[in-house]
Amino acid sequence: MENTPVSIPQSFIQELLARVDVVDVVGRYVQLKKSGANFMGLCPFHGEKSPSFSVSPSKQFFHCFGCGKNGNAIGFLMDHAGMGFREAVQDLAQQIGMQVPDDENTSPQDRERAAAQRQKQATLTDVLEKAGDAWRRHLRESPRAVQYFKGRGVSGQVAKRYGLGYAPEGWRGLASVFPEYDSPLLEESGLVIVNEEDGKRYDRFRDRVMFPIRNVKGECIGFGGRVLGDDKPKYLNSPETPVFHKGRELYGLYEARNAIREHGYALVTEGYMDVVALAQLGFPNAVATLGTACTPEHVHKLFRFTDTVVFSFDGDAAGRRAARKALDGALPYASDTRSVKFLFLPAEHDPDSFVRAYGPEAFARHVGDAVPLSRFLLEAAREGCDLGTAEGRAHMLSNARPLWAALPDGALKRQLLTELGELGQLPAPDLAQLALADAPGDHVVRAG
Ligand code: UTP
Ligand code: MN
Repeated sequence: MENTPVSIPQSFIQELLARVDVVDVVGRYVQLKKSGANFMGLCPFHGEKSPSFSVSPSKQFFHCFGCGKNGNAIGFLMDHAGMGFREAVQDLAQQIGMQVPDDENTSPQDRERAAAQRQKQATLTDVLEKAGDAWRRHLRESPRAVQYFKGRGVSGQVAKRYGLGYAPEGWRGLASVFPEYDSPLLEESGLVIVNEEDGKRYDRFRDRVMFPIRNVKGECIGFGGRVLGDDKPKYLNSPETPVFHKGRELYGLYEARNAIREHGYALVTEGYMDVVALAQLGFPNAVATLGTACTPEHVHKLFRFTDTVVFSFDGDAAGRRAARKALDGALPYASDTRSVKFLFLPAEHDPDSFVRAYGPEAFARHVGDAVPLSRFLLEAAREGCDLGTAEGRAHMLSNARPLWAALPDGALKRQLLTELGELGQLPAPDLAQLALADAPGDHVVRAG
């Protein structure tokens, strides 16, 4: 979760902003052209064809004449790259070799360790990027892999947007990319597996189409690889490494971040191909969890980009289970200003197959009909309970208690209490007493 907020002195922020150049910072993400005293580019915060986004070196400010968005270098990193305040300050300070003040309290050893860790992470993402580049080249040279993507309806344009590739057959394909195939970095990045018995090394990803996973800064942190046929496992993912944590990262978030702002919501799916298909057919605001249940950290991350999250699940039993997990992850963040919804597709479909079979309008209708969190919470609580009996109603209330308790305080939480009271046939004061008596969900992490 977020670092404990330790305030950074205003004087430090001033000095930092005086020393970095907002043109460089924005220029890392937006192509800028000099125009008079300022620089102009296409606004990254709203869709546009002609540039109305201006960056002023003298004022050290950016401003979009189209959407009105403006701010300084720190604000840009927060709004555009999705960084937290502290993270943005740290990012800028590191670039110009300044030390963020509260680091002074940490010992020189800790500081060194932190610097070494950052260095290691940068090295690992470089290694991964290089593998991704090689696999993109291989895709162009492999008619079989190209045919696989074509067969699934993936356009060249979308393949490029997601940096799709192909890891060829053979045990040591990466040896041609990395002359030092024995380097421990290849193992640490998860690209190479070392056999425990004989110490032999071999590529983790062989004869698979490859989906690079990027962090919000656009750095490559891992991969998912799919077999072209019916072999098992269908998907192979990078292992946990110093740069890749499944429970924290979302596939496609980097590619989707602008579209999430434009469309006003994020669409959360379960699969790589769901993201790719949705992007191609008009929903570039889709992301996917990485073969894991949706965690509170996933939800927290998404809410940095938007105040509305729509989860999409298959209509089958597995989809319902996944939705329950997502509900648990979302509850601590469901404040009154945010909206969380759950969309259920027909049982035999996932978003990829659905949108290809029925088209974008049909999918958009499902998005429009998505169930709000409050209703899904009530459904989850009453599942398997016979509300016609006192026992069933009591059971429903006890199911509801931890869910309700995990919600942040606010109007939604209070209204739900009233609804639960009606459903459980208990007057509100009794219910409040029951609900507030230490509910098991009380120690669920709360969002700020
Ligand atoms: P699914 O089994 O629903 O596959 O897995 P899918 O996404 O529809 O795949 P396609 O359409 O056949 O290509 C959903 C997600 O679960 C993870 C992957 O992230 C996948 O996208 N998964 C699945 C794995 O990590 N390993 C597996 O073997 C299978
Ligand atoms: Mn699928």
